[in-house]
Amino acid sequence: MNRGSDHTITDKFNRPLRDLRISVIDRCNFRCTYCMPAEVFGSDYPFLKKQELLSFEEITRVAQSFAKLGVNKIRITGGEPLMRRDLEQLIQNLSCIPGIKDLAMTTNGSLLSKKAKQLKEAGLKRVTISLDSLDNEKFGRINGRGVKVDSVLNGIKAAQEVGLKVKVNMLVKRGVNEHEIIPMARLFQGTGTVLRFIEYMDVGNSNGWTFADVISKEDIINRLEEEMRLVPIEPDHYGEVATRYLNKDSGDEYGFISSISAPFCSSCTRARLSADGKIYTCLFAANGTDLHTPIRSGVSDDELNGIISQTWGNRTDRYSEERTPEKVAERNKQKIEMSYIGG
Ligand code: GTP
Ligand code: 5AD
Ligand code: SF4
Ligand code: SF4
Repeated sequence: MNRGSDHTITDKFNRPLRDLRISVIDRCNFRCTYCMPAEVFGSDYPFLKKQELLSFEEITRVAQSFAKLGVNKIRITGGEPLMRRDLEQLIQNLSCIPGIKDLAMTTNGSLLSKKAKQLKEAGLKRVTISLDSLDNEKFGRINGRGVKVDSVLNGIKAAQEVGLKVKVNMLVKRGVNEHEIIPMARLFQGTGTVLRFIEYMDVGNSNGWTFADVISKEDIINRLEEEMRLVPIEPDHYGEVATRYLNKDSGDEYGFISSISAPFCSSCTRARLSADGKIYTCLFAANGTDLHTPIRSGVSDDELNGIISQTWGNRTDRYSEERTPEKVAERNKQKIEMSYIGG
């Protein structure tokens, strides 16, 4: 498959740098049990302070540097990105960077109805909204804050109405929501919204993950096939996270993110920028490369490009392909949190 533009840099396994996921804030208005359990992320949790966050100008500068090095796709994440004030100003800046073909955001959707129009006008192309259950009581328990399903469905509707492309992420966890796979598929049938099923991952150090909690892609497909006939389709681009299937009869598309049962590290083109300006070259990394200090000490554009190139050039991450019980135990308590790095 075509790996894209050729002025790009590659890592130790010859993987090009293509995507930048920018976390704009480490806070969230939800407390999802698998991401920010309320008992860990309480009122005394040491979230980043305002002065530690990169400003919009600083984020834009870093993104320009990444774009020069081959990045053509940017995704805004959090925590919950819409908790960062005036986010549309950042979207506007990023949408003007030459070479950026895709600008997307991952959000919990609860604050989206108010913001969808401004975001679209600022240049956002797509949103991916997380929704794990259609049952208010269960969803309230999963999100840890009693937020109702309708508040997310309204966000999805608002995004569709203003013309943003919409995907919905459903994290499937054994014993929690596997019975909602079919109801979720039914709800989005014929709407043009792509539903993606995510295998529960051992990200961060707070969710008490075990292999036994994972419902695999194969399992999910088997459940869906009780109701529909699915056929796999070709990846849209090199390094795509989800594998995609079509409902043969209705034409609806489904995505499967199988980091546990079928890892996709060998074509991983993603770098992550934390809200406090560190680059991480893997979702399961323990350490990042600080850009905040050099930026605030007056680094030149060439020097900034050099730090990023060197970081990517030295990259050997392939955590999901190496995941064994021993490896999981070894990294325990050392990984960055999902809410800090944005998934
Ligand atoms: P598209 O741009 O639409 O393909 O979105 P995406 O799948 O890259 O982004 P999204 O934020 O929707 O992520 C969906 C799920 O995939 C989340 O649970 C992410 O944490 C997970 N994910 C994204 N990138 C990676 C990755 O590089 N490694 C692993 N293991 N999981 C990832
Ligand atoms: N495993 C898999 N996906 C997760 N997400 C959050 N925590 C996990 C986890 N432990 C998902 C959210 C959201 C996306 C950014 O990451 O459901 O859709
Ligand atoms: Fe839930 Fe996303 Fe917030 Fe994590 S960042 S608690 S997954 S809404
Ligand atoms: Fe990329 Fe790390 Fe995810 Fe593998 S585990 S796909 S290297 S982010």
